[in-house]
Amino acid sequence: MTKRQWMMVAILVLSVGWIPLLFIPTGPKKDAKALVAEMPWPYNAGDPAKGRDAFQACIACHTTGERGQKTVGPSLYRLFERRAGSEAGFAYSRAMQQAGFPWSAPRLDAFLADPQAVVPGTTMTIPGVKDQKTRIDLIAFLKAATS
Ligand code: HEC
Repeated sequence: MTKRQWMMVAILVLSVGWIPLLFIPTGPKKDAKALVAEMPWPYNAGDPAKGRDAFQACIACHTTGERGQKTVGPSLYRLFERRAGSEAGFAYSRAMQQAGFPWSAPRLDAFLADPQAVVPGTTMTIPGVKDQKTRIDLIAFLKAATS
């Protein structure tokens, strides 16, 4: 090939060569069932659909989605991957900032049953979700909705 032809090939490759990258699969987003199954017993037996109903008790103060708006309480998006009291831009109580643990299903279970017992001085002033089955379903919903 002539130099000119090589140039044409190079231009062609540079201009359209990246198109196959569009077809590299990014992997399917995990569904609710798979996410819930990642948690230890008994949380892996939770029912996220029932948990959605239980989340009605939280919705006045929390969002779960990717846009992560804080309202009265912090956004719960990516909750299971972060430390308590660490969501940027939210004015946590000193108690929550100093809690010093990452959120996991058992931590949530204890906190949701009695917030003041797990984080004394927290400004999340709800009495707590007393029924264990309701908490397990709620945690399943949180896992599915915030991951
Ligand atoms: C009246 C408003 C209100 C309600 C209702 C409420 N929360 Fe909260 N929540 C807050 C506030 C405020 C904080 C921050 C507490 C602090 O800084 O001590 C918080 C913190 C949290 C945290 C810790 C988040 C973090 O970033 O560390 C979790 C988890 C949580 N709430 C879950 C729930 C769930 C689940 C419910 C429903 C059962 C619920 N909350 C109901 C106001 C509320």
